[in-house]
Amino acid sequence: MTVITHIEDLRVLAEKRVPRMFYDYADSGSWTESTYRANESDFQKILLRQRVAVNMEGRSTATTMVGVPAAMPVAIAPTGLTGMQHADGEILAAKAAEKFGIPFTLSTMSICSIEDIAAHTKAPFWFQLYVMKDRAFIERLIDRAKAAKCGALVLTLDLQILGQRHKDLKNGLSAPPKLTLANLFNMATKPRWCLGMLGTKRRQFGNIVGHVSGVENMSSLSSWTADQFDPRLNWGDVEWIKKRWGGKLILKGINDVEDAKLAADSGADALIVSNHGGRQLDGAQSSIAALPAIVAEVGSRIEVHMDGGIRSGQDVLKARALGAQGTYIGRAMLYGLGAMGEAGVTKALEIIHKELDLTMAFCGRTRIEQVDRSVLLPGTLPG
Ligand code: GLV
Repeated sequence: MTVITHIEDLRVLAEKRVPRMFYDYADSGSWTESTYRANESDFQKILLRQRVAVNMEGRSTATTMVGVPAAMPVAIAPTGLTGMQHADGEILAAKAAEKFGIPFTLSTMSICSIEDIAAHTKAPFWFQLYVMKDRAFIERLIDRAKAAKCGALVLTLDLQILGQRHKDLKNGLSAPPKLTLANLFNMATKPRWCLGMLGTKRRQFGNIVGHVSGVENMSSLSSWTADQFDPRLNWGDVEWIKKRWGGKLILKGINDVEDAKLAADSGADALIVSNHGGRQLDGAQSSIAALPAIVAEVGSRIEVHMDGGIRSGQDVLKARALGAQGTYIGRAMLYGLGAMGEAGVTKALEIIHKELDLTMAFCGRTRIEQVDRSVLLPGTLPG
């Protein structure tokens, strides 16, 4: 077996081990996927300044995100259907994050439920909320997150309607997968995945099925989104949710300076510069390109985080240098999970941490707090 040394190795293994429809769901963007690709490739355009003969002893990547200690400026992003990449996927990823000492964020559209994660971890996890038309259901979700002692609510603002992902439509994405001939043939080539799925009862959207009357067998993300997500979502809802939740609030999906100002005005604790991993507005600028202007405009009023395109510790360092207090990994975590379950998520975190630690040192810094724009080569920066 190949020695796993970088995130790409985990991606290749996940592609082999996870049924096509779920691998494709994770590994795709909307329409032409130009924003999805730019999220990664724009990181490559930013160059680092090599410094030498600096004492590199006693290094630390430890920091905080919304006041929560984190072993490195990385949290696990909320990703839908994580429990379809690997049986009990959200529980495994949350356990890996807890052991590593970084925040884990559970998606509304997860397979394992809020209560499942609470039962399997001690560290307060974060809960990501989608706003649906049924406000009573949203209230119950918020109350369930409170009861589970979630440490922050991550409110997603960029998915009232779903961007079209060609592969999901072609594959007939659903959870659990429909047992068509094509799916059965594909699953027959993924024995580990099948064995895991046979050993768990968690195969549906755990936060939803059984919690909303009339929803006993909701299986399609796209039809649920079209029917239930609220296209009228606005800043008034943010105010209402902030009040109802009463804890730390993080606004996810800001990619424009004007929205960043409104996010800062809302009194939220942090915003996440994000284009939903290139899965929504295809043609939007990459997150790393959007970050500097947003930090310049609102960085003194609200903590700024980012996600999108992080595949290495070098990427984390660049985001931090451009003013992101923290970053989130979605796909990098999913690849690890699909490849090797909890051990794969731990591996992804170890890989990114090692890359971050060594790159920071090569740039002549020993502590993450010392990382600022001066580690980057002027002229290679976005904006
Ligand atoms: C959200 O759940 C997505 O599929 O991007």
